[in-house]
Amino acid sequence: MGKAQWLSVALGCVAAVMCTVATTLVARQAVARSRWSRAVAVVRGFEEDCATPTERLQRIVNSLSVEMFAGLASEGTSMVRMLLTCVDALPDGSEEGIYYSVDLGGTSFRVMKLELGSGSMVINKKVEHRPIPEDLTKGTSEDLFNLIALALKNFIQREGGGDEGRALGFTFSFPVRQVSISSGSLIRWTKEFSIEEAVGKDVAQCLNEALVRNGLNLHVTALVNNAVGTLAMGHYYDEDTVAAVIIGAGNNASYIERNAAIAKCRGLLTDSDLTVVNVEWGSFRSPQIPLTPYDICSSEAERNHYDQAFEKVISGVYLGEIARLVFQRMAQESDLFGSSVNCLSTPFIFSTPSLAAIREDDSPDLRVVGRVLEEHLKIQDVPLKTRRLVVRICDIVTRRAARLAAAGIVAVLQKIGRDGTLCGTTFVRKIRGEPKRSVVAIEGGLYQGYSIFREYLNEAVDEILGDEIASTVSLRVMEEGSGIGAALLAASYSSTRQNSV
Ligand code: BGC
Repeated sequence: MGKAQWLSVALGCVAAVMCTVATTLVARQAVARSRWSRAVAVVRGFEEDCATPTERLQRIVNSLSVEMFAGLASEGTSMVRMLLTCVDALPDGSEEGIYYSVDLGGTSFRVMKLELGSGSMVINKKVEHRPIPEDLTKGTSEDLFNLIALALKNFIQREGGGDEGRALGFTFSFPVRQVSISSGSLIRWTKEFSIEEAVGKDVAQCLNEALVRNGLNLHVTALVNNAVGTLAMGHYYDEDTVAAVIIGAGNNASYIERNAAIAKCRGLLTDSDLTVVNVEWGSFRSPQIPLTPYDICSSEAERNHYDQAFEKVISGVYLGEIARLVFQRMAQESDLFGSSVNCLSTPFIFSTPSLAAIREDDSPDLRVVGRVLEEHLKIQDVPLKTRRLVVRICDIVTRRAARLAAAGIVAVLQKIGRDGTLCGTTFVRKIRGEPKRSVVAIEGGLYQGYSIFREYLNEAVDEILGDEIASTVSLRVMEEGSGIGAALLAASYSSTRQNSV
């Protein structure tokens, strides 16, 4: 073969190789594009399923407030329990003296000492937070209450002793059936707890017995839900406070109801005109709540009368987990997160604080997103384009949760005729008669600590109510409201009234 022929063969080979490489590259790009589109389709589908336009929120408001009416008529007919709390008067600022409280509701508990002077004056407040080891949330009630009693004993000793005869407020943030302000039996556990043997027991008595075992001379004077404690604190500072909402690890609301509106259990009501109702709205479910395949309450197995559907799309225990399930689906559809995605299959590994950190990352290269994915999910070197998708998922989860919580708040206002609609009988919201100011006390890390959640919620309340009515409603944060409120109620019920309820 001559030189020219060799050259032409060689060129032919090079061309063939380049052609193969180009074809492979194009094919790879096509595969990558199709995987990317599949991942984007997952996110789009999720976004559509989570949509909460105003009209939908309005329908949720109506349906929740109808459930609230039903729950006051009789037991067991409504999706919300509407528990009567035996609180017939709220602190008014005249309380004085030293009181303790214990606040149990999440994976940590708090013990508190509160010194009150008249005129709504908190002279001194001391709080200690203690973690609850995970095994104790599923162990025995005796171990759990011993842990609390011992922590309280040590706290009181550090504070100089003197527990004799002191009234104790006990915030217990689970559904409880009460027949007196100082006792109540556990209906069921929610959130991370599942000590089955405790269901049906009087939790105030369990704590009292643990206090005796630990040599403490204190007695539960007021057993209250955290939503009720927060309402008590709100009312202590501002008598226009009509309701309270908890938006943290769990969520719930309480409000002041007229006794005339409570048809069930009339025997439980006192001469006072009012009773505080613990709504337990976490168990609300309606076809209007936008649910997706990633929701913890959407599986058939979870569906029962009180499956906490509303709580599971709003509260801190679940938001991170919902996002994790979407990430996992994306990883199944594409190679967006690379090959080391084992962590994505671990339930509850991605927490709501991580979700919030991702959503709040405003650095141009989404540095925090990269760090959180690496530290918490062991996923490294995620490209910017993918990080943006991750932020979008966290945003969708946050926005839906905040807007649904806003609908819950408006439903409570509707129930008590403070939303401008004549208890939902008209669609027109306007001030009727003398304008009344309504304050809603709020406590909970999700609302207090996650600014974007708070903005979405506030915006949705205004959107549903419209400017005129929204101007009469204030959402007011009550820091440590549940624990302080329990101590305040212990103060007001430690007088003779304690025995008359
Ligand atoms: C409980 C409520 C509580 C709420 C907020 C829910 O899981 O059922 O009683 O108020 O969490 O902590």
